[in-house]
Amino acid sequence: MSIAVIGSNMVDLISYIHRMPSEGETVEAPGFAMGCGGKGANQAIAAARLGAEIVMVTRVGNDVFAESTLKNFEDHGISTKHVLRTEATSGVAPIFVDPESHNAIIIVKGANALLTPEDVEWAREDIARCSLIVLQLEIPLETVYAAVALGEELGIPVLLNPAPASPELDLTRISGVEFLVPNESELELLTGMPVASLEDITKATDVLVAAGIANVIVTLGARGALWAHAGGQQLVDAPTVEALDTTGAGDAFIGCFSTTWVGSDDVLAAVRAGTAYAADSVTRQGTQTSYAWAEESQPA
Ligand code: RIB
Ligand code: NA
Repeated sequence: MSIAVIGSNMVDLISYIHRMPSEGETVEAPGFAMGCGGKGANQAIAAARLGAEIVMVTRVGNDVFAESTLKNFEDHGISTKHVLRTEATSGVAPIFVDPESHNAIIIVKGANALLTPEDVEWAREDIARCSLIVLQLEIPLETVYAAVALGEELGIPVLLNPAPASPELDLTRISGVEFLVPNESELELLTGMPVASLEDITKATDVLVAAGIANVIVTLGARGALWAHAGGQQLVDAPTVEALDTTGAGDAFIGCFSTTWVGSDDVLAAVRAGTAYAADSVTRQGTQTSYAWAEESQPA
């Protein structure tokens, strides 16, 4: 059961703040945590913690952050064969989390911006033995399109998480994906349609399904997730939890969804499992540090 994750890695520098400073102001914050992050790596680590074998295609820089990312992959049994060293800074993400668990994230892509279609091609043989290709938008769009095309050529289903939202994403080049997994604001940008109510959201997903995307799964935070496909729509509620830090919850969903789906071929079961796994992750601080391992994760 192998999953190819072609995407980013970052080191998350999380400050737990009372409030954001205004211009020219210095404020004191009560806490700090550093940990491995980046949407691609987060999704890979969640899947690995749940037992999937991961083929990771990514670029790190030539700094101390690269060392911790490489060690993190190794600690999770993820081969670093396609984790390429680059003469650049590693991706970093200064993150600010307030007492209501709202977050604000700055991403500095660094080496991630240099992941090329050739890098994907170079990993072709290892990707070819995977059951799913997982992509996000923290790498160049040309590389995303190349990975989608490789999936089509090899007959491997592709999951695209269109995050962070990119106005340049060309829907016609990704309409062959098996799974498109946006959150509400990404759905709004993708379709240009309102997403204020569940009714709005279902109309927007209808448009994407009509455009040929087999499964659109909208992550709705505390409200769960909506799965839309040609056969209909299904809302999956999230368990009620006390949120402490929601950073990386969407990535937790995708890692768990992917692992469950490749193991069962059951989309609804995978949406349920992903929703429960993401809800559990928000009860703990940090990004990857909040992802449960298989032994402790609650069955959906
Ligand atoms: O989705 C959360 C992630 O977004 C963080 O880990 C941060 O690195 C940014 O990539
Ligand atoms: Na968390």
